[in-house]
Amino acid sequence: MKLEQIHIPVLLKEVLEYLDLKPGKIVFDGTLGGAGHTVEIFKAIAPTGKLIAVDHDSLAISTASSLFKDCRNIFFSKGNFADVKRIIKSFGINRLDGFFIDIGLSSIQIDKSGRGFSYIRDEKLDMRMDEDNPLSAFKVVNEYSEQKLKEIFFKFGEEKYSLRIARNITLSRKDKPVETTGQLNKIIENSIPAKEKFSKRGHPSKRIFQAIRIEVNKELENLARAIDEGFEVLNKGGRMVIISYHSLEDRIVKNKFIGFSGKCTCPSGLPVCICGAKKQAEILTKRIITPSDEEISNNKRAASAKLRAIEKL
Ligand SMILES: C[S@@+](CC[C@H](N)C(=O)[O-])C[C@H]1O[C@@H](n2cnc3c(N)ncnc32)[C@H](O)[C@@H]1O
Repeated sequence: MKLEQIHIPVLLKEVLEYLDLKPGKIVFDGTLGGAGHTVEIFKAIAPTGKLIAVDHDSLAISTASSLFKDCRNIFFSKGNFADVKRIIKSFGINRLDGFFIDIGLSSIQIDKSGRGFSYIRDEKLDMRMDEDNPLSAFKVVNEYSEQKLKEIFFKFGEEKYSLRIARNITLSRKDKPVETTGQLNKIIENSIPAKEKFSKRGHPSKRIFQAIRIEVNKELENLARAIDEGFEVLNKGGRMVIISYHSLEDRIVKNKFIGFSGKCTCPSGLPVCICGAKKQAEILTKRIITPSDEEISNNKRAASAKLRAIEKL
């Protein structure tokens, strides 16, 4: 078997350690991407282990399938990691020893897909990770109401000029649709006071593009459902490891894990617990795991990564 990585995997050593991999284990990798983690997970559980590798981007599936063409015991599925129960069942698998997701975008999607994920390039407004998704960035930008755009920008981009940007988008599209990332970028830049454009918070288009991408790909809903479904099918002693890249995602992971760990989440002051907290997992990452300075200097895209892990009891 000769497998070469085609993507720099983030926090690789830590992922392998927290998944506690051994030959024979059954692992779900819900974010195949450039197969960076997948290759190493596969090696660690071979020759008897089974790996279910999923991505909703067919480019990731076709690239990785050819990489693994001579390998047995790896099962590819183009799908949503939130459908983990249905996906593993389709391969005759009911339980998992490991569940791993490394959410966000792969380098291939940012640099080569031409789907307008970055405001730095002028591309078609698309932002779908799954090209079968009926919702695209074009639809969001050209069909959502001013109010709905404002809400998305505020909630998913934490942008204080959300209303101005939403208003300028709706004004601009009255003449003709906003078709490219370049046009959208210009509208955003023109909505922000000059002195704020290069503030410490970074370029405003970064936040607005992030917000639109989260909406198009339903990223937060999928993450929450994936954690619930993945935990349900995990064996006792099985590990769940998640890497996220922004605070909204990390908050979901953190709160779900706290819930599984049995910590009472009732409002303070109640005489008895009513939230039904039950200890079902041990949190393995009491302190959140982040990349070293050395890793960040070798791979800038690792900078905002946060890893959390639990073991099912
Ligand atoms: C950061 S990349 C993964 C990189 C990979 N771990 C590696 O080292 O090469 C994230 C990948 O997850 C995929 N993805 C994001 N959300 C998904 C979802 N809900 N279901 C399936 N795949 C998803 C994206 O299409 C992308 O290819």
